Amino acid sequence: MSDKVYDVPAAWAHKAYVDDAKYKAMYEASVKDPNAFWAEHGKRIDWFHPFTKVKNTSYDPGHVSIKWFEDGITNVAYNCVDRHLAERGDQVAIIWEGDDPSESKKITYRELSAEVNKFANVLRNRGVEKGDRVTIYLPMIPEAAYAMLACARLGAVHSVVFGGFSPDSLSGRVADCASKCIITADEGLRGGRKVPLKANVDAAINLLPPDSVDHVVVVRRTGAAVDMTPGRDVYYDEAAALVTDECPAEHMNAEDPLFILYTSGSTGKPKGVLHTTGGYLVYASMTHQYVFDYHPGEIYWCTADVGWVTGHSYILYGPLANGATTLMFEGVPNYPSVSRFWEVIDKHQVNIFYTAPTAIRSLMQAGEEPVKKTSRSSLRLLGSVGEPINPEAWEWYHRVVGDNRCPIVDTWWQTETGGILITPLPGAIKLKPGSATLPFFGVVPEVVDAEGKVLSGACEGNLVIADSWPGQMRTVYGDHERFEQTYFSTYPGKYFTGDGCRRDADGYYWITGRVDDVINVSGHRMGTAEVESALVAHPKVSEAAVVGFPHDIKGQGIYAYVTLMAGEEPTEALRKELVAWVRKEIGPIASPDLIQFAPGLPKTRSGKIMRRILRKIAEDQFESLGDTSTLADPGVVDDLISNRQNKR
Ligand code: WTA
Repeated sequence: MSDKVYDVPAAWAHKAYVDDAKYKAMYEASVKDPNAFWAEHGKRIDWFHPFTKVKNTSYDPGHVSIKWFEDGITNVAYNCVDRHLAERGDQVAIIWEGDDPSESKKITYRELSAEVNKFANVLRNRGVEKGDRVTIYLPMIPEAAYAMLACARLGAVHSVVFGGFSPDSLSGRVADCASKCIITADEGLRGGRKVPLKANVDAAINLLPPDSVDHVVVVRRTGAAVDMTPGRDVYYDEAAALVTDECPAEHMNAEDPLFILYTSGSTGKPKGVLHTTGGYLVYASMTHQYVFDYHPGEIYWCTADVGWVTGHSYILYGPLANGATTLMFEGVPNYPSVSRFWEVIDKHQVNIFYTAPTAIRSLMQAGEEPVKKTSRSSLRLLGSVGEPINPEAWEWYHRVVGDNRCPIVDTWWQTETGGILITPLPGAIKLKPGSATLPFFGVVPEVVDAEGKVLSGACEGNLVIADSWPGQMRTVYGDHERFEQTYFSTYPGKYFTGDGCRRDADGYYWITGRVDDVINVSGHRMGTAEVESALVAHPKVSEAAVVGFPHDIKGQGIYAYVTLMAGEEPTEALRKELVAWVRKEIGPIASPDLIQFAPGLPKTRSGKIMRRILRKIAEDQFESLGDTSTLADPGVVDDLISNRQNKR
């Protein structure tokens, strides 16, 4: 942990929306009287019928219910597109930068409006109506934004699935929310490599019962020939040629669902996190404006993929609700060279840049020259998200990328929270490298010990949030009990984040990482249970236990202990086969970094795997294994230690 403090630059304190005094006053007001505070800020979006009720939320065990602005009527696509047309119809809404640096495109708000309306009509012609679920499996192309906004316009609930997930993962997500329509592309393009998206969709549909999916809409990206099933599949451009660019925006209740996004938890299959309309948009747009201190006319770039929540809230919904110019990048940080990010910043004169620590750490390895040879003089603010940022990476980001001039907002939040909860406001809050600093308006963090006792002052424990905010998820799609169980049963009456955290004497929060069986690999959430069930599905594997281990670039790597079926040989070839198997079952992001063949796993006498021990071994902390005397066979530990796999 670093103790260095970076003061708010004077220019920032003067020009930003919020300075220190204003932050304190607004924060105070927001937690003292949330109804009054959010009644005021709820007006930042347009309502067809204004709300009269503001907050109606309960964290009571057995009765968890979250409603915001519940009698208001609005439409998210209307707010992200239509309402800007009068004032900024000709302003660029989306700058699209292709995988290949020679390809880019600018889409104005007026053009965006036409595209979203057309896409909505294409879906409507395929029977998509308010409340229907639509799965979106697209690369980072403008059509991903059009498709999401088209769903919002119709009141359909989108479920975006990251293009790196396998057919198996995709089919599970289609089945869980019973979506009858999938939007995809012929192929994706990343770092010069093609991703067979349409073929993956076909394979996913083959895993489902017949007639599960009625329509597949295929956007042409590379123009590759793909199989098209007559009656079910249609090319988007052909369907769009037949429709008008006018489609009315459905009137949506504030609490009508906007989207489902699947995310990994500590147990079972990924959960469908459900977000609704009014509160989500108010919160996404307000955090986007204040955290990034976004001023009209600025160019804003978030490097996430729309397949993750960061892409939903901070590429699409927050920025567009604010009438911003948002940059959408199809490629990767190291293609065609490790200067790509910085070249794109110069090319499009980006003012605000928001990325993940894993990208910073990997670019750091290439040294300063690939950064320094670019200008980056347009940059004003830097942001970080997805995992704890180590102080070394923070300092490099600040000094090398930001030329010691740009504040860094280290934003802590989750798929479940809809928007940023703990973060500096760049004109108000002094920075400490590695700390997400202080709560956003309306957010009440608490640190609790294992028994749930609320700790005060400087302390370390688990992070909970004591009261609701408008962007909070409302339920797990189709399983409200799981929602209550996962988030509200560990510490009854509070939202449990799953993160550990330290609070220092200045009240600053330092997120220390997950305390449950979720690991964070390159900023991507992965449930260890998911990787385990993929491994044991292999015919040669009898048992598997998966833990995270510290990884220089990825933050955490995936360490798998595998027990083979009797008679199977633990060979190097089998190791490779298992890695390939997991990639096929879940997707490349779940590839184990290290596999250790273990004749036995450490278990209690009742047969429970003691993951604490496996974690310590993976972390090379052999001295602090703790009490191993309760193991059924303490001898397995010595074997595990002597066969510890080394980082490659
Ligand atoms: C981690 C991504 C430290 C954390 C928006 C959280 C962070 C999980 C930070 C959510 C940060 C995210 N500092 N840790 N600034 N941001 N995390 O759902 O463990 O993909 O619980 O949402 O990422 O990941 P998710």
